[in-house]
Amino acid sequence: MTRNWWCAMALAAFSFSAMAAGARPTIEELKARPVLDDYESNIVYGYNIVMETQRYAPRYVGSRLNCTNCHLKGGTQPEGFPLNVEGVYPRWRAKNGVRNGLGLRIRDCFLYSLNGVMPPEESPEVQAVAAYIHYLSEGEVIGRPPDRWGVPTLPETGSDPNPARGSVVYKQKCAACHGADGQGTAAAPPVWGPGSYNAGAGMNNVQRVAGFIWANMPLGSERSLTHQEALDVAAFLHIQLRPFDPRTTNLWKLVERIAQAVSSFFGAGKP
Ligand code: HEC
Ligand code: HEC
Repeated sequence: MTRNWWCAMALAAFSFSAMAAGARPTIEELKARPVLDDYESNIVYGYNIVMETQRYAPRYVGSRLNCTNCHLKGGTQPEGFPLNVEGVYPRWRAKNGVRNGLGLRIRDCFLYSLNGVMPPEESPEVQAVAAYIHYLSEGEVIGRPPDRWGVPTLPETGSDPNPARGSVVYKQKCAACHGADGQGTAAAPPVWGPGSYNAGAGMNNVQRVAGFIWANMPLGSERSLTHQEALDVAAFLHIQLRPFDPRTTNLWKLVERIAQAVSSFFGAGKP
C-alpha cells in the first residue's frame, strides 16, 4: 500500500518535471541561452521587431508606431489583437480578395498599420515575425480561433457614433497621454496625423477601434468608458487627418497632401 503510494508520488513528480522541461521557454530564457538554433534566434528577433519595430525593422516603417502599440504586450493580450493566430491562417480575406497566408498578413500591417513599405515574403523581418507568431501559437488548435481573438464587438447602443461627443471624451480621457493634437507624447503613440496608421489600416474602422478602446483604453483604467463613449471617441479619431490609403491613386494622394498641408497650416484637425 505505502509502496504503491510512493510509486505514484515518484511518477507524479517525474511527469511534472518532464512537463516543465517541455514547456515553452520564455523570451527571457531564450535570450539568456548562450546558443540558439535557427528557429529560436528567429523567435527572439521577431519578438524584438514586434516590441521595437522602429529599431529592428526601420526600413519598412513609415509611422511612429510599433506593432505592440496595437498588438498589446507583444501580442499576448487577449482582446488586444493577440498574435497567437497561426492556427487560423491561411484564410480568405475580403480586403484583398485572396487567401491570405500569415506572411501576407504580417506584410499588410507594415503597409497599412505602420504606413510603411510592404516587405517581401522572404525578408528576414517577415520570417522572424512569423517564427515569433508560431511560438506564440504553440498549443493552439488548427482551425480554431484563439481565446478572445481580436477585440470585442460592442453591442448596439441605439445611438450612432458621434464625433462631436467623442471630441469631449478625447479631451477628458485621452489627450493627457496621446496629446491634444493627437500626435502622441512620451507616454503614448500618436492616434492621428502623419505619425499614425494610414487610412487603409484595419484600425481605421469605427467598430474595430471602438472595441479596442473600450477593452484597452485609457491605459490603466481599461473598460471604464461606456460603449457609447468608446464608439463616440472612435468616430472622432476616424474623422481626423492621417496618411492616405496607399491603394488610392496618385492624383488623389496629391490632393490629400495639399489638403493636409493647408489644414495643418490653419491648425485644423485639433480637438
Ligand atoms: C495601428 C495598429 C496596428 C499596428 C501598429 C500593427 N497592427 Fe497588426 N493588426 C492591426 C489590426 C487592427 C488587425 C486586425 C485587422 C483586420 O482584421 O483587418 C491586425 C492584424 C494583424 C495580424 C493578423 C492577426 C489576426 O488576428 O488575424 C497580424 C499577423 C499582424 N497584424 C501583425 C502585425 C505586425 C507584425 C505588426 C508590426 C510590424 C503589426 N501587425 C502592427 C493593427 C495593427
Ligand atoms: C495613461 C496613458 C493613456 C491614456 C489616458 C490613453 N492611452 Fe491610448 N495608449 C497608451 C499607450 C501607452 C498605448 C500603446 C500601448 C502599448 O504600447 O502597450 C496606447 C495605444 C492606443 C491606441 C493604439 C495605438 C495608436 O497609437 O494608434 C489607440 C487607438 C489608443 N491608445 C486610443 C486611446 C483613446 C481613444 C484614449 C481615451 C479614451 C486613450 N487611448 C487613452 C496610453 C494611453
